[in-house]
Amino acid sequence: MSFYPGKVIITGEHSVVYGHKALLSALSLGVTCEVESSSGVVNHATTDPYLKHILQLCSRELGVRDIETTLTLKITSTLPAKSGLGSSAAVAAAVITAVFEYYGQHLSSAKLYPLVLEAEQYVHGRSSGADPSIVVHGGSLLFQQGVTTPLESDFLTKQTFALVDSGAATESTGEMVALVAHHPEREALIVAIGAVSEAIVSQLQQGKYPVSLIRENHLLLARLGVVGAAAQDIIEQLWRMGIVAKITGAGGKTSGSGFILAWHEDSVFLREQVNRLGVSTIITQLGNNRGKYNEN
Ligand code: PMV
Repeated sequence: MSFYPGKVIITGEHSVVYGHKALLSALSLGVTCEVESSSGVVNHATTDPYLKHILQLCSRELGVRDIETTLTLKITSTLPAKSGLGSSAAVAAAVITAVFEYYGQHLSSAKLYPLVLEAEQYVHGRSSGADPSIVVHGGSLLFQQGVTTPLESDFLTKQTFALVDSGAATESTGEMVALVAHHPEREALIVAIGAVSEAIVSQLQQGKYPVSLIRENHLLLARLGVVGAAAQDIIEQLWRMGIVAKITGAGGKTSGSGFILAWHEDSVFLREQVNRLGVSTIITQLGNNRGKYNEN
């Protein structure tokens, strides 16, 4: 059995695709996968094109044919899909690890990362590697151009966050990345987000939650066109309540934009206020989880 966590992006979504720094944290929600010999039960992989793609990748790497029909996968996820919480990378990591384990092969994080990255290209088009990196390594980390550095501060792990659902995005991550690529002001906005991210990381490393910088980050993402009306409305309500909030992940334009990352220093106040919104909310800690496998 394998488990890999989902994630949030604290800062750097979209700008990370252009080489800027992103800060990501693992969630305690995630994906579990168990593998058994096929017993004629309908296998997800015959109906889900993403799973089929992941299993074909496993077949190639392991040199084993027909994995899709040989094995039955039991996948359990506590992560909503298309919501910016890293579901596609967590599914890939959990499935690849469980299948390799079934064939007696232990995968180190260093070997797992490029496989999850390759799997995720299927959903992202061109993934920066940020999601695969946090899902594989867990904790909280800085990611830039394929290089991963653990965050040198435990400040984040001591905070309580609310993940507020603005609705699943209609667009895929790949579509949102393509939309940004064609934005007329892309270069200037991406450079600005890169600079804000540097400042956010520096404040967090000094043990401060960077309230106005997070707001600035969100406003730049909105100008990039990745925040839909529903998410913007919720975020403005949160700001009025004195809660710091931004979208996290690729976002979404025409319907929902995935989950909103919300923070307040007083966790009781945070809970009370987000409950008043009347939308589905997850109260969570960040950066405490890592993937694991072969543990029951
Ligand atoms: O929404 P998610 O979890 O798929 O996050 C995507 C993050 C992007 O920066 C938009 C894309 C990427 O490959 O880094």
